[in-house]
Amino acid sequence: MKQSSFSIKYQPVHPGTENTTIIFHPETPDLCAIFTPGRTSGERRFFVTDGTVARLPCIQQFTALFDDGRCGRDYLLVIGSGEPYKTIESVLTIVKAALKEGFARKDIFVGIGGGVISDITGFAASIFKRGTSVEFVPTTLLSMVDASIGGKTGCDFDNYKNMIGSFFPARTIHIFPRFVESLSSSQYNSGLAEAFKTALLYDRDLYTIFLEKSESILSRDPAVINEIIPRCAHAKAKIVENDFMENNIRMYLNFGHTFGHALETVVGLGNITHGSAVAWGIGRALSLSARKNFCSQSYCDEVLKMMLLYGWDTEGMPHCVTGGDVGGRIIKAMHKDKKNSNSKICLILQKGLNDTFILEMDDDDILPVLK
Ligand SMILES: NC(=O)c1ccc[n+]([C@@H]2O[C@H](COP(=O)([O-])OP(=O)(O)OC[C@H]3O[C@@H](n4cnc5c(N)ncnc54)[C@H](O)[C@@H]3O)[C@@H](O)[C@H]2O)c1
Repeated sequence: MKQSSFSIKYQPVHPGTENTTIIFHPETPDLCAIFTPGRTSGERRFFVTDGTVARLPCIQQFTALFDDGRCGRDYLLVIGSGEPYKTIESVLTIVKAALKEGFARKDIFVGIGGGVISDITGFAASIFKRGTSVEFVPTTLLSMVDASIGGKTGCDFDNYKNMIGSFFPARTIHIFPRFVESLSSSQYNSGLAEAFKTALLYDRDLYTIFLEKSESILSRDPAVINEIIPRCAHAKAKIVENDFMENNIRMYLNFGHTFGHALETVVGLGNITHGSAVAWGIGRALSLSARKNFCSQSYCDEVLKMMLLYGWDTEGMPHCVTGGDVGGRIIKAMHKDKKNSNSKICLILQKGLNDTFILEMDDDDILPVLK
């Protein structure tokens, strides 16, 4: 992979958020070279990362520069790792520390981490003194292919996913595919699920890659990773450019998410990876599409068979849930989805590969695929 970049343009919501430049870096991540912490001129940077990312060998040289959080005029805040920290308290911790350290609206927040870090750092940036610019260095596959791109920020609330947030895109996103080397297999697999979603929604060639190159994908062959990440980034960029505020086609990106978010709620936020919940949800959305004759049974079967290659749960009754009335509990959580506008549940369904639509459905239509 060669270093390259491209830009997304959209209506400005806030000065400084009208354009995102995405830079692909083929080399080993070197944050000191990109950000030169401690320099004496230019914008002050407020870095946010999590405890796991801060300890990664390729980041340690960078974090070691910060003494008690400070390196010259820059500051590094380290918060806890993972979904349990995607809270309004973490967002306020960022805001409070930035205020205490005297950061101004013209300064810049930088989130270094997975989707949790980009979501909460972006949200904190959007409310700090009514909005300061933000940049991301996504370190999970999921964040490189999806979460860091497109300006959706926020946090979980009251045990429901992403209930508070804002649309506030990053100014620059630095993608280093080599960060995937240190991901646990479950985190890597979680990112693959969002990439697989992109293939089903938009990219036939990527679908073929998932179909024919499962071994290379699962062994994290850099050549295939370097192909998957830009494909997904470009696909998402195109969608958010055309429907930034999620009024129509951006909703398709929620394919598998209405089921998946509900599963995350039922299992307990953080007890299952986002991607594996979404993958299970994709299986449910396709099974429902086939059951209602929107798509062919053969398309649904082919996708479910492929999903097994990647270890995703394709059963109506998810393996990770215990206790009774699983279907009823999932349906109850699905009613909290932000896309719903009335008593029905808004679902993203498919007629076939790269042929997607939205439909509101009754509980009784959905329950049969949750058995
Ligand atoms: N804003 C959006 O458009 C959008 C889209 C999809 C998902 N999301 C959100 O993203 C979140 C999931 O993102 P995620 O899966 O990146 O979760 P995450 O940020 O919790 O990261 C997962 C785990 O991997 C660790 N980690 C990060 N980088 C690592 C690396 N290079 N090596 C080893 N470990 C590393 C983290 O410390 C964490 O423990 C969810 O909250 C989801 O709602 C947002």
